[in-house]
Amino acid sequence: MRACGRCVPDGHFGAAALIAEPNVPPASAPPGGDAADGAAHGVAPVVTLAISDWHPSVAPADSDRHAGVLENGGVLALPQLAFGLDARETRFLDVRWSDGHAKNISLDGTRLHGAAGAAADLAALAAMIERFRRSANTLVAALFPRYGPWLAGARTSFRPQPASRRPASWRKDDTRLHVDAFPSRPNRGQRILRVFCNVNPAGEDRVWRVGESFEAMARRLLPGVRPMLPGEAALLALLRVTRGRRSAYDHLMLNLHDRAKADLDYQAASAQREVRFRPGATWLCFSDQVMHAVVSGQYMFEQTIHLPANALYRPDSSPLAVLERVTGRALGR
Ligand SMILES: [Fe+2]
Repeated sequence: MRACGRCVPDGHFGAAALIAEPNVPPASAPPGGDAADGAAHGVAPVVTLAISDWHPSVAPADSDRHAGVLENGGVLALPQLAFGLDARETRFLDVRWSDGHAKNISLDGTRLHGAAGAAADLAALAAMIERFRRSANTLVAALFPRYGPWLAGARTSFRPQPASRRPASWRKDDTRLHVDAFPSRPNRGQRILRVFCNVNPAGEDRVWRVGESFEAMARRLLPGVRPMLPGEAALLALLRVTRGRRSAYDHLMLNLHDRAKADLDYQAASAQREVRFRPGATWLCFSDQVMHAVVSGQYMFEQTIHLPANALYRPDSSPLAVLERVTGRALGR
């Protein structure tokens, strides 16, 4: 087992000290083409698209190319695609609409969570988030027709809190590099595609760090992951710790999430670089695949889309396929 060098369970550290690469913002897209950066640094590439419409016209060959970027662990940045708020909505750019408990305000179907206010105000807030949901889903359906049947169902979030706010624990500290995996929600290999949009009214960028490829991270951290115990998945489901049974894949993903965040040597020394998303920018990535950490920023929308393996353009690049290759085991059950 690999020793976890400086594992500090509740330690918190300044992200600026961890930036291994100079700050290189996404390049502007040339007319009619894409601009990519990052791959040469050995970290997740960021490919910039010149798209300024939430319902763009996309040729099939371009869909395939853009899907290749995402499904191979890259980020698609659309710096010209802003989500505009109308005069009645800009008042929601204020932390006072948070209920003080939940990290984000979220819309789950028609139910609003994490917000506080009068009923009429909350209805208007929900309508704004619903409008972002429709815009994000329209964008994804236009970019990736194959994902189209799977757009409904997942939560949409509005994030008025500063991203650098101190989390409750190291596991919840998203300023540390990680891939997304959730302890209570096994997904058995379903993908987690996320659409983000920075709506900061004061010119503040959303700043991320992105890390090495999923496979490089997995090969480095898997040796320290303990195997799932016999009966563990069934017991967790029985005790309702998990919604449904955790698969071997879920177990590995969760442990990779935890090991990356707990290992301060990994956080400091692994390949990474800073990426800045300006206000008015939208970006997409598979957050179960791209090593990412949020450094700073405030006011953002996010739409999650869960995709089954058969919706993918490059299923052999998925975290499930990579982990099955690396471990030599079937992990779906
Ligand atoms: Fe995350």
